[in-house]
Amino acid sequence: MSLDDFDRYPLTFGPSPVHRLERLTRHLGGAQIWAKREDCNSGLAFGGNKIRKLEYVVPDALAAGADTLVSIGGYQSNHTRQVAAVAARLGMKARLVQERWVDWPDVVNDKVGNILLSRIMGADVRLDPSGFGIGIKDSWESAMEEVRAAGGVPYGIPAGASEHPLGGLGFARWAQEVAQQEQELGVFFDTIVVCTVTGSTHAGMIAGFAGQDRPRRVLGIDASATIDQTRAQVARIARHTADLIGLGRALRDDEISVLEGWAGDLYGIPVASTIDAIRLTAELEGMIIDPVYEGKSMAGLIDLVRANEIPPDSTVLYAHLGGQPALNAYAGAFG
Ligand SMILES: Cc1ncc(COP(=O)(O)O)c(C=O)c1O
Repeated sequence: MSLDDFDRYPLTFGPSPVHRLERLTRHLGGAQIWAKREDCNSGLAFGGNKIRKLEYVVPDALAAGADTLVSIGGYQSNHTRQVAAVAARLGMKARLVQERWVDWPDVVNDKVGNILLSRIMGADVRLDPSGFGIGIKDSWESAMEEVRAAGGVPYGIPAGASEHPLGGLGFARWAQEVAQQEQELGVFFDTIVVCTVTGSTHAGMIAGFAGQDRPRRVLGIDASATIDQTRAQVARIARHTADLIGLGRALRDDEISVLEGWAGDLYGIPVASTIDAIRLTAELEGMIIDPVYEGKSMAGLIDLVRANEIPPDSTVLYAHLGGQPALNAYAGAFG
């Protein structure tokens, strides 16, 4: 089996844009920094990394004869918003479990941003008081049961599509796309920086890049603040995805690198370095990143470049995975 043997339902515009971050590069005075923009990869509800994962999940849902996509995330989940968009595009229903993953005091946290968009797209959005967790949750299982009891045919997509058997394929394909774009641009990205929480984005990249000739570092920046669980999940999904796409060798431990230090104490709560990274990127580049995910991975990139842990002769690709709609619930952090 290779990646090309899996069915893919196109949901993206095509290859996502890659461009230099010139002013940020100059400001930091080290490695050359570029971005690849999953925040504008699709016309579906502002796009994002889940759209790529769902391209490989949708054929399975269609083959299963499902009429309802069932998924789960926090109130401001980007993932559930993208599931709602894909359901709308397919003419299916979406049943979303929105848990209280973040104890964030903003009164509009369960009303604006991602959850608002899901409601507008016609999803059946149900709030649930359960806390953060990246594994399989009871509330998600019972939502599936409720859809069945009402005569529907549910198709379950776990948090971030990560525990889904095909969840890593979208970003294995991203690795192929990067190699293609490198040829076109005449550049080689020796270091990739990516935010990681439920794990299949980073894991898919690891599996995809592992099959290429030139070695590179794929640095995951943890934003879950549950580092052991995320490390284990990334390793498991990377190895599973590598098997699926026929890598033909075992992944080495040193190919799986999840760095901690920028998540703060809790998932979904920005810390000073997150807010600084968001402001710096916005002021220098006009590029908007969010306080839950990309603000934390950008804080990591900034520190690693400043400390020369990413050396000055490196060329870095920052994976911008989307997530800006959540900013609406974080106005207080920028007051
Ligand atoms: C904007 C954004 N960045 C990063 C991530 C992390 O991706 P993953 O859950 O695949 O680790 C997510 C989703 O969880 C996200 O929505």
